Amino acid sequence: MQNWADGYFTESPYSEEFISALSPVEMRLPLVLAGLTPPPLEEGFEYCELGCGQGLTTALLAAAFPQGRFTATDFNPTHIAHARRFCAERGIANAAFFDDSFAEFTARDLPKFDYICLHGVWSWVSEEQRALLLDFLSRRLKVGGAAYVSYNAKPGKLLHDPLRRLFKDLSGDPAAPAEHRASRGMDLLARCLDQPFGVFRIIKERKRIVEALTRKESAYLAHEYMNEHWRSFYCDQVHEDLARARLSFAATLDPVLNLEALSVPPALAEEYRRLPSAAQKYVFRDLLLNVAFRKDLFVRGPLPLTEEGRRRALETTFLARVPFHAAFVEEFGTPAGVVRLDRDPLFRAAYDLLGQRSASLAEIFALAPQGEAEMLNILLLLWASEQIRPVAAAYETPDGPLGLDAANAVSLRQAVENGRGCWLASRVLGNAVLLTLDECLLLDAMLRGVPADELPARVAAETFAARRGIEVEGREMKSEADLADFFKRRWAEWRPAVPRDLARLGVLA
Ligand SMILES: C[S@@+](CC[C@H](N)C(=O)[O-])C[C@H]1O[C@@H](n2cnc3c(N)ncnc32)[C@H](O)[C@@H]1O
Repeated sequence: MQNWADGYFTESPYSEEFISALSPVEMRLPLVLAGLTPPPLEEGFEYCELGCGQGLTTALLAAAFPQGRFTATDFNPTHIAHARRFCAERGIANAAFFDDSFAEFTARDLPKFDYICLHGVWSWVSEEQRALLLDFLSRRLKVGGAAYVSYNAKPGKLLHDPLRRLFKDLSGDPAAPAEHRASRGMDLLARCLDQPFGVFRIIKERKRIVEALTRKESAYLAHEYMNEHWRSFYCDQVHEDLARARLSFAATLDPVLNLEALSVPPALAEEYRRLPSAAQKYVFRDLLLNVAFRKDLFVRGPLPLTEEGRRRALETTFLARVPFHAAFVEEFGTPAGVVRLDRDPLFRAAYDLLGQRSASLAEIFALAPQGEAEMLNILLLLWASEQIRPVAAAYETPDGPLGLDAANAVSLRQAVENGRGCWLASRVLGNAVLLTLDECLLLDAMLRGVPADELPARVAAETFAARRGIEVEGREMKSEADLADFFKRRWAEWRPAVPRDLARLGVLA
């Protein structure tokens, strides 16, 4: 642990993550639905990320929003070197990265921001650092601006406290490298789950906790558990803290959690309704859903939409079908019960339209004979069931040959060269989409103009020649025959769906 880190883990870099929830479009929809004026988007905005890790999120959002100015900091210089190189290689000029600590950044002469985001930070830093973050939010968020703060939530994270003690304090010599200790911690956990006593009996029953942990790399486990500081919070504690910086809780990003009708089981609806304050209701909902992580939105000065503002917001808030969505979901399970989406043809009508092109809320409301009142519920359910999502613009796929812009072309080339997947930014989506390595190889060959009937064989031969394996469902394909077979199958399913979707989302434009 280095002394500039105030207990934060700095032995190895944090994994390179892209967090789509940090896009301004993801924040706009919940704010508009809560009847609040969202910060500017189309006309340009100032955006800030605190504790940006390797900078992938800020960098790709800057590529997706050329009209925005992005500023980010992370005190780990290795992270910032990576972020700056990433932007320089892609010609992304509207993002500035600082290797400042929160204290240094707060003292810097900076503009005021329309959006300030902290993902994976609040729960992992000391009380003192949280006070600095509050100070920054209080001084640097514009009136009318929005802040995104994610954190480990109670009660869902309660069982992670003993897990953290196991990883941090019981996994061997504290002087040994943290990643080594993290993998020792996983071994110890496996043994304890084999013969489950005490708390391990309870942890074993919570299969999702164990499954999620086994999928994580040791670098992630080290960052998650080896910090001196690690806390989970009930949501009302965080809302009260942010209120000290004069920020009001506006909504949470999880649509199910946001909607009473979906998150309260009918058997407890009466008890829920009787709670006198909104704060008590939020806490009760988190208990009912055993919420473990929250992504909350706060505003500086809730500014209710005027009638004119609301009309404009409906015309400038857009939705589209989720990228690569497989098929219409007919039945959706919520804590309040199962909802059938095939009963009302309007579900299908909205899903079909948004699969062809993105559209504004106003345009989608017009599909329903009774307009907004009828369609709003349908959209909320399609959103909650992860079939549609907010995007930045209405868009129809243009005719003619399609290609990648310069920044995405660099990402694809590096993905092919380095043998890994990549995120591609889109101005239409206001976000980025992930392509796995096999998809990158197929797209690259397609854009090089390899004839369709030769393409899978060519990609398989090139992959074999590069001595590269492709991992499929935990198994590594390496032999020439396996690769040929795999790419033939993959091309047949990928070609009719994915390039069309990439064009619909403006990644291929
Ligand atoms: C869990 S990571 C999250 C990274 C990124 N936001 C993401 O979600 O991918 C937390 C980040 O906060 C940074 N950090 C922690 N304490 C900090 C401080 N006092 N000042 C600046 N950055 C800090 C760490 O270096 C780390 O990259």
